[in-house]
Amino acid sequence: MTIIITGGAGFIGSHVVRLFVNKYPDYRIINLDALTYAGNLENLRDIETKDNYIFEKVNLLDTADLERVFSQYSPDGVIHLAAESHVDRSIVSPMDFVYTNVVGTVNLLNAAKTAWAGNFEGKRFYHVSTDEVYGALGDTGLFTETTPYDPNSPYSASKAASDHFVRAYGETYHMPVVVTNCSNNYGPNHFPEKLIPLFINNIITKKPLPVYGDGLYTRDWLFVKDHATAIDLVFHKGKDSETYNIGGFNEWKNIDLVKLLCKQMDEKLGRAPGESEQLITYVKDRPGHDRRYAIDASKINKELGWKPSVTFEEGLSQTIDWYLENTEWLEHVTSGAYQQYYEQQYAVK
Ligand code: NAD
Ligand code: DAU
Repeated sequence: MTIIITGGAGFIGSHVVRLFVNKYPDYRIINLDALTYAGNLENLRDIETKDNYIFEKVNLLDTADLERVFSQYSPDGVIHLAAESHVDRSIVSPMDFVYTNVVGTVNLLNAAKTAWAGNFEGKRFYHVSTDEVYGALGDTGLFTETTPYDPNSPYSASKAASDHFVRAYGETYHMPVVVTNCSNNYGPNHFPEKLIPLFINNIITKKPLPVYGDGLYTRDWLFVKDHATAIDLVFHKGKDSETYNIGGFNEWKNIDLVKLLCKQMDEKLGRAPGESEQLITYVKDRPGHDRRYAIDASKINKELGWKPSVTFEEGLSQTIDWYLENTEWLEHVTSGAYQQYYEQQYAVK
């Protein structure tokens, strides 16, 4: 089997590529990635020389190059993760999200449709999406697969649009599609613009920890390797035209999560208890900030037998250890353009 995994140089994509390359030596895994600021081949150093792994630097907006890859490798499956993924960037530059997440996804659907030419036997187009398409929850309730779409940020609106296109290609052209909507991931290789890796980096360097608004926003956190195992399961066992929600059964208010992170890091860094908490700084809120996300993952649990493998405390501890052991990775990704982004994003808050 040949599988194109898009966004394989990014955070979640690199864990999916590693899992597939190691677990399925008979498969040919094509990592298709444009290497934007978020794509980093250092994430894949340990598997890059494997015989069943190929990297293709391709932008989803380059339709000719996409067609070239599909005709060169004749893939049986596509697992689509490539996206602009950061909500704060989508507020500043929404068009980047329209181009990559919407137009890029439709370009990829077209490339697959052309290559498969109506013969969908043994084929699968798997679209990786987010729980943010469902909007915001109040104090109670969970997102299920039938929760109406209600996106609030340019990022979530672009992901919602891409989900609709994938579904439409399933209905209209009978393309075998499957979609998953997952909650917040954390773990190794996470770019330090998102809450957990940003705060780990700031604790290491003793910089302020910018908590948006009142800090009482809630997210449902899942260890990235557990998301990768869910993707493996859905790719192989999920039903066509179905949606599966994936989540950690693990809700945390931001401020409680930040305090846990500070506690674990003080212990690991040999700092006095409470030292890192003093870095917490409340800053201006994110516009359109969704109050609470929480996933009901009972469908994937009941139908495919998936559940998370680590507790949040264990996963967070493993994550911190990874960042403390991979200082070179952190230095590389936080040099250059990152500094400029950081100053623009946090100067005014
Ligand atoms: P990421 O930002 O870390 O990685 C995105 C990857 O896509 C990068 O390697 C980048 O180079 C590539 N890419 C971006 N634009 C491209 C283009 N035009 N052409 C080709 N490649 C391009 O993202 P992530 O956090 O790993 O998220 C991966 C997917 O999972 C996204 O679709 C995202 O919406 C979804 N998701 C993420 C989370 C999360 O918590 N991070 C949760 C649920 C769903
Ligand atoms: O729910 C899934 C989504 O999770 C994915 O689809 C997105 O790609 C991913 O980026 C993530 O979106 P969030 O906006 O929830 O993640 P982020 O890490 O940016 O923020 C998590 C929470 O922390 C959110 O309530 C905003 C808050 N926050 C974030 C940053 C970067 C802060 O308080 N301060 C910060 O500096």
